[in-house]
Amino acid sequence: MNTVSLIVWTLESNCFIIYTIMIVFFVVFTMFHKNRLEVHQNRIGAKKKFARDGGKVMEYPDDEDDEDCLVPAISEDTPHIPYRPLARSSEEVLQRSRDYYDLMAQRRTVRRFSTEPIPQEVLDNIVKTAGTAPSGAHTEPWTFVVVQDPNVKAAIRDIVEEEEEENYNRRMSRQWVTDLKPFGTNHQKPYISEAPALILVFRQTYSWRSDGKKKMHYYNEISVAIAAGFLLAAIQYCGLVALTSTPLNCNARLRDLLSRPSNERLELLLPVGRPHKEVTVPDIRRKNLDQIMVHV
Ligand SMILES: Cc1cc2nc3c(=O)[nH]c(=O)nc-3n(C[C@H](O)[C@H](O)[C@H](O)COP(=O)(O)O)c2cc1C
Repeated sequence: MNTVSLIVWTLESNCFIIYTIMIVFFVVFTMFHKNRLEVHQNRIGAKKKFARDGGKVMEYPDDEDDEDCLVPAISEDTPHIPYRPLARSSEEVLQRSRDYYDLMAQRRTVRRFSTEPIPQEVLDNIVKTAGTAPSGAHTEPWTFVVVQDPNVKAAIRDIVEEEEEENYNRRMSRQWVTDLKPFGTNHQKPYISEAPALILVFRQTYSWRSDGKKKMHYYNEISVAIAAGFLLAAIQYCGLVALTSTPLNCNARLRDLLSRPSNERLELLLPVGRPHKEVTVPDIRRKNLDQIMVHV
């Protein structure tokens, strides 16, 4: 008897008792296993997310049910050492807070640069400063690609201008393009070849441990954003200028051009240098303290 014949036979025979038993069994089974099913689905979801984060499925994270796999990425025996704070009096703290505010309040985004080169050690030091930023579980999920070669800068400019032309004409909303009008930007980016150095900030979505296992990069977006803030502050502190830019849709092409691996995503492209002597900036205002600070 095949399946169709069986169904016809049960219908003809009015086998309600069989259907009732099957439905009751299904309901009891579902309720009994509800929690287990939810846990299982959550784990599948977590694994899928992890695979998407990397943009490429290579290996799932360690099975958390297996205690032997739960080894911290940094040695559990890492010693804790005394922290030696900078000794500053209250007056010094106050004065330094004022001085630092004055310095940072002068930071502006410029879109024209002098071609004067920057000493290599200056670039090393500002990138080292960015590398002192805090990161989720000390994963340091960043790579700073510093480009000074004129040919590579020209290739980057070609890619960015090509994509930006599409962005301005088709991908960005009309409101977005309108909101950019006060800044006088368009798809042309001469500063990419003018600035003596470009720093491209890549975010590592994950990496690999020395034992070959995948290393999770917790909070990699905010960690890289903080490091970028450190970088901009260091650039300002040493008397240089930068243009914080986020070239839309350029990630894959610039990643390939610069031979970066697929676990890295381009977050920022920062031309860095001295300002062009005729540079101007839009006369914008910053919010007052009472607009950005709430006392509780
Ligand atoms: C996340 C981010 C993305 C930005 N992207 C661009 C960009 O693609 N092109 C550009 O000319 N400026 C860009 N800017 C610069 C802003 O326009 C600039 O910071 C803002 O107008 C305030 O000016 P200020 O930096 O001089 O204070 C960006 C800034 C940020 C923080």
